[in-house]
Amino acid sequence: MLSKNNKITKVDDRLKHIAFIMDGNGRWAKKRLLPRQVGHKYGAKAFKDIVKYCFELGIKTVTTYAFSTENWSRPQAEIDSIIQLLRDYNTEIIEDGHARIIYIGDKSNLPNDLATVMIEGEEKTKDRDFLLNIAFNYGGRSEIVNAFNKLIKEGKDSITEEDISNSLYTSGVPDPDLIIRTAGEYRLSNFLLWQCAYSELYFTNVLWPDFGRKQLDAAIKDFYNRDRRYGGLNKNEEKK
Ligand code: FPP
Repeated sequence: MLSKNNKITKVDDRLKHIAFIMDGNGRWAKKRLLPRQVGHKYGAKAFKDIVKYCFELGIKTVTTYAFSTENWSRPQAEIDSIIQLLRDYNTEIIEDGHARIIYIGDKSNLPNDLATVMIEGEEKTKDRDFLLNIAFNYGGRSEIVNAFNKLIKEGKDSITEEDISNSLYTSGVPDPDLIIRTAGEYRLSNFLLWQCAYSELYFTNVLWPDFGRKQLDAAIKDFYNRDRRYGGLNKNEEKK
């Protein structure tokens, strides 16, 4: 829905779930001759405001890629800074009372008490409506492998698409309608590989810390101009 000044005010049921690949924090910092950690700090700030905005618009689920299984190869100081931002955000979410948080990814072998902190966040927010999935130590392929292994353990000798969907970290959550990646990269980088089958993809050159409400409005308007056919025909063609 658009307001008089052409701003998005609410979304409808076509847009239940948006996922973000928050790319470009490092480049944003580099442009300002700042350490990469500062880029992540401003990236986290941008994300928090985008989450609030999504929920104001009526988007029920937001997923973000905070840390991939490959990101452990980054310098330790950078890893530590991302983990600290995540810990702080976990506390904020618990205290502010709006969103339910779910961490998608492998929680085994995480440093210090991070897994305990995550589980506490999930537990304390579990009765809330808006869902915030944070992908941490996440890889799409390994998520699918884990799902298959779970099904094998359950003794299944043939499996359906539904079985796989129900065995992923995102079990029970509708697939993302829209996946947004910033910073001019045109790939999914092992994010939500199963769930993205019919997602609309939106790419922008804006670096993540500069991605704000105006940029999200532009992405949502673009989404509403897409013709989602799921392999079928569009409505006008069906009538012919
Ligand atoms: C990609 O940019 C970003 C990351 C790998 C980390 C994203 C993490 C945060 C924004 C902070 C923690 C998250 C939350 C939800 C509070 P990049 O570093 O690869 O950028 P570059 O490609 O420009 O180097």
